[in-house]
Amino acid sequence: MANVTVIGAQWGDEGKGKIVDWLASRADAVVRFQGGHNAGHTLVVGEQVYKLSLLPSGIVTGTLSIIGNGVVLDPWALKAEVEKLRGQGVEITPENFAIADNCPLILPVHRELDGLREAAAGSGKIGTTGRGIGPAYEDKVGRRAIRVCDLAHLDSLDSQLDRLCAHHDALRAGFGQSPVDREALLNELREIAPFVLQFAQVTWKRLNKVKKAGARILFEGAQGVLLDVDHGTYPFVTSSNTVSGTAASGSGLGPAATGFVLGIVKAYTTRVGSGPFPTELDDETGQRLGERGHEFGTVTGRKRRCGWFDAVLTRQSCAISGVTGIALTKLDVLDGFEKVKICTGYRLNGKVLDYFPSHAADQANVEPIYEEMDGWSGTTAGARSWADLPAQAIKYIQRVQELIETPVALVSTSPEREDTILVRDPFVD
Ligand code: GDP
Ligand code: IMO
Ligand code: MG
Repeated sequence: MANVTVIGAQWGDEGKGKIVDWLASRADAVVRFQGGHNAGHTLVVGEQVYKLSLLPSGIVTGTLSIIGNGVVLDPWALKAEVEKLRGQGVEITPENFAIADNCPLILPVHRELDGLREAAAGSGKIGTTGRGIGPAYEDKVGRRAIRVCDLAHLDSLDSQLDRLCAHHDALRAGFGQSPVDREALLNELREIAPFVLQFAQVTWKRLNKVKKAGARILFEGAQGVLLDVDHGTYPFVTSSNTVSGTAASGSGLGPAATGFVLGIVKAYTTRVGSGPFPTELDDETGQRLGERGHEFGTVTGRKRRCGWFDAVLTRQSCAISGVTGIALTKLDVLDGFEKVKICTGYRLNGKVLDYFPSHAADQANVEPIYEEMDGWSGTTAGARSWADLPAQAIKYIQRVQELIETPVALVSTSPEREDTILVRDPFVD
C-alpha cells in the first residue's frame, strides 16, 4: 500500500488538512480529487497558520501538488489563494504545482446561481458555502462546462458558450436576472487564462509516470462521507462524491492506486449548514465543545453545530468508504469533561437501528442511544506518544475503534503539525 487516501468520515472539518500536511513530507505527490474552494483546510506549523481551500495541503512542505480533474476550479479564487500563500513564503511554481487541463471551471454565473437558488429555497435551503460548487458540477455532467484546456482556445468557444447560455439564460430569466453577458465573461476568462495555463498539464499522464517510478501518492479528500452526494444526508450534501473511490476517477489513476484509506474522524461531531444531526447538542455542552474546539468554519466563518461522537454514522462512513484505519483528531477538546457520551444506536418509531436510514424524515427523527463514559482529568493536549495519554483517554480511543469496527492509525492532539501520535504508519505495508 504505497499510497494513502485521506477522506473525512463525518461532515467535513475533521482535520484533514493537518493530517495531510503531516503525511506530506513522506509523499512524493499530493492530489486533490474532488470538491472545490468550498473546502477549508487549516495547517498550523509553529507560528504560521495556513488556510487552504483549493491548493493541496502538500504545497506547504513543497511536495508536488496536483489539482485533479475531479475538482471544480474557480480561477479567480485560485489566483487569490496562490498570492496569499506566496505572501506567507510558500513557493508555488509550475514545477511543484499542476492543474489537470480537463478540470471544469467555476464561473461567476455559478456563484450567482448558487446564491439565487439558496435565497429562493425557503425551508429547503441547503446552507451551501455559496461558492458555486453545485451549479459547476451540474454543468460538468450537463456537458456545458468550460474547462481549463478551453482557456487556451477562447476564440473557438462559441458552441460551448451557446450550450452554457441556453441553459443559464433560461434559469436566470426565471430569477428575474439578465442573460449571461458573453463578451464580459470572455474578457474575464482572457484576463485570467495565462495565470491558470502556466500550471495546466496532462496530470493523469504525469501521475501515472510518477506512480510507475515507485512514487508515493497522497490523495487529499475534501468535505466528508456524510456530505457525499450518494451516501450522505441527501439533499443536505455537497455536489461531489467524497468517498475514497473518487480518488481514482478524480485523478486519472486506477482504483488500486487508492492504497491505505485513512478516514479522518473528530473525537466528537460537528456540522456546518442545514440537515439532520442526531447527536447535536443545543445546550451548554454543545457550546463548550464549540468554544474549546474553535468550531467556526474556515471558509464562511459560520459557527459549526456541535455534538457527541456518533459511532453509528462513523461506522457507516468507514464501511462505505472502505476505511483501512482512522486518524482520531481533536481528542484534546474533550479534556476536562467529567463525562463523555458516544452514540451507539438510534431509536426510530419504537425500533432500534444500527445504521442511519436513507429517508430525510427518518434521518431527522432518529433519537440517539448513548453510552456514557468517565472523562479524564489529565490533559491530552500536545501529546506525542501513547504514553502521554491519560488511561481514561486511551479507554475512549479503544471504545471508539471497537464501535466503528476500524482501527486507529493516528491520534491528533492539537492543531500543531507535530502534535500527532503515530500508531500505524499508513505508508507502510
Ligand atoms: P479540514 O477541513 O478537515 O481540513 O478541517 P479544518 O481545518 O476545516 O478544521 C479543523 C480545525 O481543527 C482546524 O482549525 C485545525 O487547525 C484544528 N485541528 C486539527 N486537529 C486538531 C487537534 O487534534 N486538536 C485541536 N484542538 N485542533 C485541531
Ligand atoms: P472541508 O473540506 C464542512 C457543506 C456546506 C453545506 C453543504 C453544501 O473543509 O471539510 P456546497 O457549498 O458544497 O454546495 O455546500 O456542504 N460543506 C462543508 N462543510 N467542511 C467542508 O469542507 C464543506 N464543504 C461543503 O456547509 O452544508
Ligand atoms: Mg474545513
